[in-house]
Amino acid sequence: MLIQILGSAAGGGFPQWNCNCANCAGLRNGTLVAQARTQSSLALSDDGEHWVLCNASPDIRAQLQQFAPMQPGRAPRDTGIGAIVLMDSQIDHTTGLLSLREGCPLPVWCTGMVHEDLTTGFPLFKMLEHWNGGLRWNRIELHDSFVVPACPGLRFTPFPLRSAAPPYSPHRLDPHPGDNIGLLVEDSRTGGKLFYAPGLGEVDDALLTRMQAADCLLVDGTLWDDDEMQRRGVGTRTGRQMGHLALNGPGGMIDVLARVPRARKVLIHINNTNPILDERSAERAQLQRRGIEVAFDGMQIVL
Ligand code: MLT
Ligand code: MN
Ligand code: ZN
Repeated sequence: MLIQILGSAAGGGFPQWNCNCANCAGLRNGTLVAQARTQSSLALSDDGEHWVLCNASPDIRAQLQQFAPMQPGRAPRDTGIGAIVLMDSQIDHTTGLLSLREGCPLPVWCTGMVHEDLTTGFPLFKMLEHWNGGLRWNRIELHDSFVVPACPGLRFTPFPLRSAAPPYSPHRLDPHPGDNIGLLVEDSRTGGKLFYAPGLGEVDDALLTRMQAADCLLVDGTLWDDDEMQRRGVGTRTGRQMGHLALNGPGGMIDVLARVPRARKVLIHINNTNPILDERSAERAQLQRRGIEVAFDGMQIVL
């Protein structure tokens, strides 16, 4: 299985257009050793030619341009994207669908809850019907594995996560299973197993068991501290309120990852306020000591 990280930042990207936190300002003025990052998306393939896009970010146009296999050129109009799988209905994971309208009809896999958000609060499915049939919905049933025809060698097993529906969702304050999912993706040829969960608010024993079955974890690294947005003076919401388990502190994601010794551990969906983006920070050094990597745009993993 080929895993291409198209975008490794959380909503807003890094630097964020209107943000002057220490990281965003430091990157702009050249005092911070860090890499710019686009918003959360990755592509998976079993053959290097046909790809499943996991989440469609607002930065998708630039992301596709940066990754040549997405422009295979087999026909006058062509794409390497064989299907799109959505983890949730968050703005940073879905607005890229608007930029893909020229390629409709497109198969989109998502849960009933995500489809509901994308036909009500943010009615992408309805809007895009006017572009050559729009998005073709394939319903993800929680816990039922599925195979996407474009990549028959990959088996996707979805599972519900405790996280949060988007701020615009009619049920933002009334969570349902299926608002957010994670995926276990297994390559039937190599046996390689990927655990992917960019929005993860809580890890229980059942989820930990799933994590322990994987060869590689791509997990929520949004915030270092739960109250980081407040500390940096850029917001009021906590990680918990947004459905993101912070890395630091008792029971935080670093503690969780220590209980998964075998797997390769990679953080994704990094918020621009997170000190781990600073390659010289003590927090980044702490991750290094614990064998935890930080995803970057263009990162490739083979399982
Ligand atoms: C999240 O991951 O919590 C959201 O993308 C936040 C947002 O929409 O700004
Ligand atoms: Mn997000
Ligand atoms: Zn910032």
